Amino acid sequence: MSEILLQIDGKEVKIEEGMTILEAAQSVGIFIPTLCHHEKLEPYGACRICTVEVVTRGRTNLVAACLYPVQENLVVMTRSEKVDKIRKMLLELMLAHAPEAGALQNLAQEYGADKAHFEKEPSFCILCGLCVRYCAEVKKKNAIGFVDRGARREINFIPEIASKECWSCKECFPLCPTEALQASYLLTEALAFPSPSVAS
Ligand code: FES
Repeated sequence: MSEILLQIDGKEVKIEEGMTILEAAQSVGIFIPTLCHHEKLEPYGACRICTVEVVTRGRTNLVAACLYPVQENLVVMTRSEKVDKIRKMLLELMLAHAPEAGALQNLAQEYGADKAHFEKEPSFCILCGLCVRYCAEVKKKNAIGFVDRGARREINFIPEIASKECWSCKECFPLCPTEALQASYLLTEALAFPSPSVAS
């Protein structure tokens, strides 16, 4: 694959064509925060915390680094006033859902996000979809899925599948940026798993 030249944070870099900005930055040791990205999964673009500023053909845009493909002569700024402002607002929105999440708190410190800025709606889920997509794309089990739409959208374990598949897997638990997935599983197990005679 051919290489292309671009600039990231003022540094000229040669990158393999076909990479995303996130992959390009990582390949030269530049950190971009992510919450819904996983190297084993298809890019999803849900959290937008990876937003960066790009200049291409004289125009400046804000794009999701995990989705946007590198281009010849692209100029990328992984930190700027606009980028930091957006990340701060996104974090404040996510913290309203999961105020105690360690991953969010670390980023909140970096970007000066105030977890009390928006009214709390503790769902403990930021809808990154990592658990849903990992179960579907890597494990091919679909034991967890999204339900409902809009503000009511949430993730749910599917009791009939989860009762058979999850006990020996649980690989999605450590992926959860709010650390709430295990509790959600235990709640589903307690309330909705089929009784042993039905499940066997
Ligand atoms: Fe890019 Fe979530 S990491 S949108």
